[in-house]
Formats: sequence, C-alpha cells, structure tokens
Amino acid sequence: MNKKIIIGIIVVLLIVVGVGIFALTRNNERENHAETTKENSEISENNNLQSSNHEQNNNGNENNEVSNDLNSLVLYFSATGTTEGIAKQIAEITNSDITEIIPKEEYTTEDLNYNNDDSRANMEQNDTSARPEIANTINVEDYDVIYLGYPIWWGTVPKIILTVLDNYDLSGKTVIPFCTSGGSGISQSMNDLKSYNSNINWKDGQRFSGSTSNSNISSWINGLDINE
Ligand SMILES: Cc1cc2nc3c(=O)[nH]c(=O)nc-3n(C[C@H](O)[C@H](O)[C@H](O)COP(=O)(O)O)c2cc1C
Repeated sequence: MNKKIIIGIIVVLLIVVGVGIFALTRNNERENHAETTKENSEISENNNLQSSNHEQNNNGNENNEVSNDLNSLVLYFSATGTTEGIAKQIAEITNSDITEIIPKEEYTTEDLNYNNDDSRANMEQNDTSARPEIANTINVEDYDVIYLGYPIWWGTVPKIILTVLDNYDLSGKTVIPFCTSGGSGISQSMNDLKSYNSNINWKDGQRFSGSTSNSNISSWINGLDINE
C-alpha cells in the first residue's frame, strides 16, 4: 500500500478517536454539572426547610416565653377539696408554685352546712366585717401573676379571700380568679373582687366543675393574655 494512503488512514483514525474522546468528556461534564445543580437545589431546599422550621421553633419559644418569663403562683382556698383539685391542675399546666390558704380554724361539715342559717360559713357570708384568720404565711412578693382559687359561697368569694386581700398587697400584680361551685358562675365574685381592690390587674376569671379535664384548663390558660 502506498505510504501516503497509510498515513492518511492513521490521521483519520486519530481524528475519529480524538473527537470520540472529546464527545465523551463533554458528556461526563454535562452529567456532573446536572448532578451538582440537583445537589445544590436539594441543599437550598433543605436550607429553606430548616429556616422555616427555625421560624416555627422561634414562634413556639415566643409563645412559651409568655408564661416562662413571669413568676406565677396558684393560691387557693378549698374547704372540701374540689377547688384544690383544679388548683393542682393549673399549677402543673402553668409550671407555677402553689400555696393553700389554710384557715386558722378548720371548717367542719357542720360549719359548711348552707341549709343552716346559723352555720359558721353562712354567718360569715352574712357579716360584711367577717375576716376569718389564716394559719399560714403566704409569699406573694416573688410573683407577678397569681391564679386565685376559691369555692363560690352564696354567689361570691368566701370571706377568707378578703382576709388575703387585706393582709397581702397584690396591687399591680396580675390576678386571675378561678372557682368551683355547684353551678353558679364566677361573675358576681369577680365584680366583688374588682371593687374590693381596683389596683389589682384583674383578669376575667373562670368557673370550673370539679371534673374539668387538663385539656379544657389548658385551652382556658392559652386564651388568657397575661401580659396585657
Ligand atoms: C356555705 C356554702 C355556700 C355555697 N354557695 C353556693 C352557691 O351560691 N352557688 C353554688 O353553685 N354553689 C355553692 N356552694 C357549693 C360550693 O361552691 C361547691 O361545692 C364547691 O365546689 C366546693 O369547693 P371546695 O371543695 O373547694 O370547698 C356553697 C357551698 C357552701 C359550703
């Protein structure tokens, strides 16, 4: 074969192989580029997700901080244990300290007989100056928010609650009344409390039955705007 023809064939082969290698390299590059772009967009999607989770967590924290920022106390009087049950639930849900208002003279069953005009409880409720004594010392100074609990007696607060208001300065504090009753609402007692000390930041209170669930109590607490 002519030498020139052989060289020509070799040159053509080299060109074909070169073009092939070039084409393969470009293809790989294109695939790599596509993968890198996909990875980048996945990373950016993840970042977006993380930042939206972060925002959600921040919102969650902000909500929690409303109750965590303020020191709260559940302060209650309970003659037969019903209000005490609700008080304990509120303390647990709000992570508050809890203090019972303990009467110096415990109320007996006869004392609590509302069918007897001369029972101790009835006589106290009919006496505007009655202020039953309290056995324990109550720390209110350390708290910004006080959940104040009592049973309804003849439509309003037992007189021992007024003893608390006489002996402890709650002015400027946020006080949230709650009560239990045989059916009466809290509104008359709220009006009485507001006019007894108008320097307290009273929040609208709530009447509970003794069997109120934790979730119902939580909904009430979440609906309170304690910072206002
Ligand atoms: C002297 C007295 C008066 C009461 N007056 C009312 C009333 O006016 N309306 C009502 O619904 N329940 C009334 N009750 C029922 C209590 O409010 C109810 O049993 C309450 O849940 C008791 O709470 P405690 O177990 O924490 O003391 C009265 C109870 C007593 C002892």
